[in-house]
Amino acid sequence: MLKVWDIPTIIYHWVQGTLFIGLAFSGFGFFGSEVLHERFGVILAILILWRIGWGFIGSDTSQFKNFAPSINKLRDYVKGNEKQYVGHNPLGGLMVLLMLTLLFSQALTGIALSELIDSKAIFERQTIKFLKNVHEMNALALIVVSCIHILAILLYQLNGKPLLMAMITGYKKSKETAILLYFASIRKAFALLAICTIAMMFILKLMS
Ligand code: HEM
Repeated sequence: MLKVWDIPTIIYHWVQGTLFIGLAFSGFGFFGSEVLHERFGVILAILILWRIGWGFIGSDTSQFKNFAPSINKLRDYVKGNEKQYVGHNPLGGLMVLLMLTLLFSQALTGIALSELIDSKAIFERQTIKFLKNVHEMNALALIVVSCIHILAILLYQLNGKPLLMAMITGYKKSKETAILLYFASIRKAFALLAICTIAMMFILKLMS
């Protein structure tokens, strides 16, 4: 067994997934209220900020430079010239970048439209209308992309690649057990989370 994911990334993933479901249901009015939707949104925005930071200073398998795929790597992977990937494979890496971009822009547009800031004083009416459209379209895109993500994980699972257990336990079955990976400390993850939370509170205060 080879350790591939650190605990902060695992916790981040499942909290993010749960929040996303809560945001989708409260956003489309199936449960909760607008206030709850905004609160979930701010928490998710802090988490995404954290994940972006972790992509630069976190563990090896979480760092963008280690999984952002090149065209060549993607082509090889799609053609089936597979080598074993410890973290995200090239297609998975691309999907992760897409999901993070969509989640980040969803959080930004949501905050810009929310009661938490004085959006009428900051944006023109046309801009607010535009942001609303982006927020709605992006929500649908995220639902589609998340379904593809879950379906892909299921397909890998059926093909004997148990990615799911790795995202729960942090460990993956691997022939290459001698790979030396750097794992950032939990203290570093907490420090980054504190910085992201303070930054978010500061931005909200500044714009309210
Ligand atoms: C039942 C639901 C879900 C399951 C079973 C699941 C499973 C997984 C697994 C196994 C991975 C690791 C993939 C790999 O090895 O390359 C992963 C990564 C990821 N998933 Fe999910 N996922 C679920 C829901 C979601 C949702 C709802 C979102 C967001 C809308 C999401 C976003 C992500 C992201 C951003 C990553 C990359 C993690 C990182 O590197 O930080 N997932 N997921």
